[in-house]
Amino acid sequence: MTPHDHLDGALPTDRSALTRRQVLLGGAGVAGAAVGASTLGGAWAWAAPPPQAQAVRAPFTLGVASGDPLPGGVVLWTRLAPEPGAPDGRGGMPDRPLPVQWEVAEDEGFGRVVARGTQLARPELGHSVHAEVDGLRPGAEYFYRFKAGPELSPVGRTKTAPAPGARLDRLAFAFTSCQSWTSGLYTAHARLAEEDLDLVVQLGDYVYEGAPTSSGFRRHEGDGEPVTLGDYRNRYAQYKGDADLQASHAAFPWVLVLDDHEIDNNWADEVPQDPAVQSREAFLARRGAAFQAYYEHLPLRRSSMPRGIDLQLYRRLSFGDLVDLHVLDTRQYRSDQSTAARLDPARTMLGDEQEQWLRSAVAGPTAQWNVLAQQVFFSQRDFTRGPTQSFSDDGWDGYVADRNGLRDHLAAVGTSNPVILTGDVHANYVCDVKADFDDPASRTVATELVGTSISTGGNGVDQNPGDAVQLAENPHIRFINRNRGYVRNVVTASGWTADFRVVDSITTAGAPVRTRASYVIEDGRPGAQPA
Ligand SMILES: [Fe+2]
Repeated sequence: MTPHDHLDGALPTDRSALTRRQVLLGGAGVAGAAVGASTLGGAWAWAAPPPQAQAVRAPFTLGVASGDPLPGGVVLWTRLAPEPGAPDGRGGMPDRPLPVQWEVAEDEGFGRVVARGTQLARPELGHSVHAEVDGLRPGAEYFYRFKAGPELSPVGRTKTAPAPGARLDRLAFAFTSCQSWTSGLYTAHARLAEEDLDLVVQLGDYVYEGAPTSSGFRRHEGDGEPVTLGDYRNRYAQYKGDADLQASHAAFPWVLVLDDHEIDNNWADEVPQDPAVQSREAFLARRGAAFQAYYEHLPLRRSSMPRGIDLQLYRRLSFGDLVDLHVLDTRQYRSDQSTAARLDPARTMLGDEQEQWLRSAVAGPTAQWNVLAQQVFFSQRDFTRGPTQSFSDDGWDGYVADRNGLRDHLAAVGTSNPVILTGDVHANYVCDVKADFDDPASRTVATELVGTSISTGGNGVDQNPGDAVQLAENPHIRFINRNRGYVRNVVTASGWTADFRVVDSITTAGAPVRTRASYVIEDGRPGAQPA
């Protein structure tokens, strides 16, 4: 079964909207290329496009990306879209597959090419390309590019993971989330692209499904919220046309997992936010379309190819003996939000299968640092001053039994240096994950680092007035900041340093980045201290 077969008929497509466009990427003549070949030194030549290909229009409008680094390789991504916002959602491409060539080199000038191949960009997958490269050296930097007809893509840089279990002295990575395109410029991505990193982890809200608004800094094209595959494709096309986002992708391999806004605000498994407005059937069709567009636009492996309404995103990536990165999905398997039932032990955040997988993974053997990269706030967070308590029902506070059970499991099995990474709330936080959140004297079991948004919420502030209440009511919350930015982490055998990198404006171009605060987690001592 080829990877796209199970998509046919299982997902909504917009074939009815097909119009024959004037965009021809080389016509039928190019289809004779040796699809699937990846041998070096073959007859394939970058400098000599077939004559039929002369009519190509620049198709690489959405940039290039790499992701999910393994010791032997990465997945390389691009999508052909000479007309990215075409109303039919086809990016200005014809309704037939076209070969796209890729190559990987040790140098930016492509003098030392080490891998090449050709992959079909299929209309069923929006003419996206996901080339899984293997046979590369572990822990090594590479450069990559694509070619369609005579057109060359921009060059991306990537890095493979270290050999399994190999001693690794240092891993530098950033984590990000929440990049509402209408809220402001992607200055934080421009600054992120200038960092020296091995990896970027994106914790969700890559796009927002909200309807166009005139109050934002930038305006979405189109009307209403996306519903069809074509709608979602065009939402991604709009976001991914941004040069700063493209630079950030081109600079590092990314590991991604989605949150709610890639589909619908606060959805839970098969339940939309507003069941009165969307039927279950309509929501599931929408979920399938949104998952497919997510896959089509990001450097995900075939193991994360959507199957109907399901998308396998929870997974573990390992970085030598230093870091195990457990990527969690807190949307697709959860019980519906309920303030009244927040203590009900029958309710689940991860779903039984994922929870068992995670419990087994963190029980060992593991690397020295164990990251839980996930979406929503993990630590208890009481918003109300005084003895009365109030909590978010969308974060782990709405799934108390699952949260406490996972926390207790980490402690019971002695997971080495657990660090929970969180997005969603558009603010930076540092939290001690306590054995009993209501007892400040109880043991600290793990550390939670929460990253602010890239842009959602517009220009930030240092703190809100309500943050003093949160800090007073929740002594395990050590730090809150609401500027825009990302979190840069340098992990070594002796400790983890988290730098909360912020930009003061996203409504004026070119703002510099500064470190608002740095926190250190010492090896073997959960909880972060000011650096
Ligand atoms: Fe968000």
